[in-house]
Amino acid sequence: MSRRTLWTNVQLATMTEGSPYGAVRDGALALSEGKIAWLGRFKDLPSEIHSSADEVIDGQGRWVTPGLIDCHTHLVYAGHRAGEFEMRLQGASYEEIARRGGGIRSTVGATRAADEAALLQQSERRLTSLLNEGVTTVEIKSGYGLDLETEMKILRVAGRLAGKFPVTVCPTYLGAHALPPEFEGRSDAYIDFVCREVLPRLAAEKLATAVDAFCERIGFTPEQTERVFKAATGLGLRVKIHAEQLSDQGGAALAARYKALSADHLEHLSEAGARALAGSGTVAVLLPGAFYFLRETRVPPVDLLRRYSVPMAVSTDSNPGTSPAGSLLLMLNMACTLFRLTPEEALAGVTRNAAKALGLEKRIGTLERGKDADFVVWDISEPAELAYAFGINPRRFVVRHGNIVNWFPSVAAPPCSPPPPGECPP
Ligand code: NIG
Ligand code: FE
Repeated sequence: MSRRTLWTNVQLATMTEGSPYGAVRDGALALSEGKIAWLGRFKDLPSEIHSSADEVIDGQGRWVTPGLIDCHTHLVYAGHRAGEFEMRLQGASYEEIARRGGGIRSTVGATRAADEAALLQQSERRLTSLLNEGVTTVEIKSGYGLDLETEMKILRVAGRLAGKFPVTVCPTYLGAHALPPEFEGRSDAYIDFVCREVLPRLAAEKLATAVDAFCERIGFTPEQTERVFKAATGLGLRVKIHAEQLSDQGGAALAARYKALSADHLEHLSEAGARALAGSGTVAVLLPGAFYFLRETRVPPVDLLRRYSVPMAVSTDSNPGTSPAGSLLLMLNMACTLFRLTPEEALAGVTRNAAKALGLEKRIGTLERGKDADFVVWDISEPAELAYAFGINPRRFVVRHGNIVNWFPSVAAPPCSPPPPGECPP
């Protein structure tokens, strides 16, 4: 019989649809076998659930949200691109740098050269920064190896991160990210290699559960992207796309035809693209970190996405070139400030809709009976505060699969007493 934990005296932002934040005041949350066994108003708590609890935790009136989900990251890579940041500040554009052989290709060089242990160590720092803010599920893309060996190394590191930290990792193969130097001038041959050699191997070894492509002038054409989608879906893998980031290539509509999990970026999405997404089940993933860092001026058409009822997710896009970000909470603020999402839409973007963008909406993303007991207990007095403040981490406890994740130093540390007058704190 597994341990039954009962959280009482909590305010639940369940993030289910139908009422603001799906809020339940003066709530209780009963957990069993890593799942949510019951939730609702404390006054409605069945007495047998109360009496059979092995442990009762007083939430002291705090707010609880679903565990945060970062549904679009490239956080496994080696090195950094601070030099390109400096070049861009001198006037060079992201596209120019990429065309000169920098950009993604420079990270490919560093990632190929790094051994697995170094890659793991460098990636841990970025992952733990997210976990510290209440992320319990993260998607991690490959795409900085491009050859079979390095792509497998990246995806193995993603798996090792999942084994080492209390987080669910969704590994995505992003072979069609950039053309590797050994295929210079032969992009169709590279797509053949992706479809015929890499995809079947990754599917057989279950190293990736989804496949992504960068459909862009400096990436791959819609035709090449479609070849990747055909091969991936033929192997039973779900697809997703980097679409309409720098120009409108019709990538979102292509993704919708393949019932993609998500279409991501979308600054240049047209009305036809938004209409195509409607009803396809494909989630629009907005990435305000990349928009900000590239100093873009064209915002994704949020009003169109609303009008066509396309679910919107928000993510860090953690990567060395366009979004060296380690904070999903900051993205909530940016999604509101830069893209004019409401705080509730932003929070749905890192919970309910992010779960859908990963195909995990039956298991995570909202607080509901039967779902995984992944949640965050916050030191806030209303949910909008999560999007309102930036550079502040009000995370109190992270619970994953029913257990408090207590490795964060600030959670484990006892409350500090003030130092005696005249003495510096240690
Ligand atoms: O999501 N657009 C393509 N991929 C990344 C950037 C990759 C890089 O510059 O290293 C993105 O923005
Ligand atoms: Fe990306």
